[in-house]
Amino acid sequence: MAKLAVNVDHVATVRQARRAEEPDPVTAAALAELAGAQGIVVHLREDRRHIQERDLNLLRQTVKTKLNLEMAASQEMLKIGLSVKPDMVTLVPERREELTTEGGLEVQLNRETLKKYVRLFKDADITVSLFINPDLDQVKAAQWVEADYIEVHTGPFCEAMTLSERQEEFDRIQNAVKLAHKVGLGVNAGHGLDYRNIGWLADIAEIEEFSIGYAIVARAVLVGFERAVREMVELISWGAAWRRTGL
Ligand code: PXP
Repeated sequence: MAKLAVNVDHVATVRQARRAEEPDPVTAAALAELAGAQGIVVHLREDRRHIQERDLNLLRQTVKTKLNLEMAASQEMLKIGLSVKPDMVTLVPERREELTTEGGLEVQLNRETLKKYVRLFKDADITVSLFINPDLDQVKAAQWVEADYIEVHTGPFCEAMTLSERQEEFDRIQNAVKLAHKVGLGVNAGHGLDYRNIGWLADIAEIEEFSIGYAIVARAVLVGFERAVREMVELISWGAAWRRTGL
């Protein structure tokens, strides 16, 4: 069964809306772990719109499962990543004006630079994942730069408006996942996943971990953090039964 890694960025989004001290993403991470999450994810963005360095440092000291730092491939983030030493870094593209990460990394076109970043993190014993679109050429490029993992971008699948569109996106994801697995890359998946669409992907055996943030935090506001995490863990475990029951 795939693992659930909970992204707590949006707990920090609420805190930053008031530049206040609460809610604290560090507390949310601890509750998520108690509720069965097997990893915690944060994205330290260049503009620090949600997660702050204080959060990252405290999470490094308190996370008991696995800390995955999403970051842009930039000199500033490289320095922070190497000093904080998360268990995994996931390199993502980043644009200041975007509401959330919009697309996967262009690995092929940036392969020389990305290969250097991958090497530097691996030399520091940090596992490296690349967030990519479900595209076979990007998978091959991820292998070329010697990444350990890919995280497949599930956004377009989640945003599909019709069943046939969703099926098309599902097939793209499945093909990318199978190729990645075949060439020895570990496979995670995330972006836009929620309580309704997770069943489709939860029984793709090669996906090791789902990285989910917004849907869990949104539900947590209404039902509490632990319950929101537990319900997602359950849905992942039921994966096969829920798959393709509709949009
Ligand atoms: N994976 C990556 C690489 C992301 O950038 C995000 C968004 O921060 C997520 C997963 C989680 O997406 P969501 O918040 O839509 O669950």
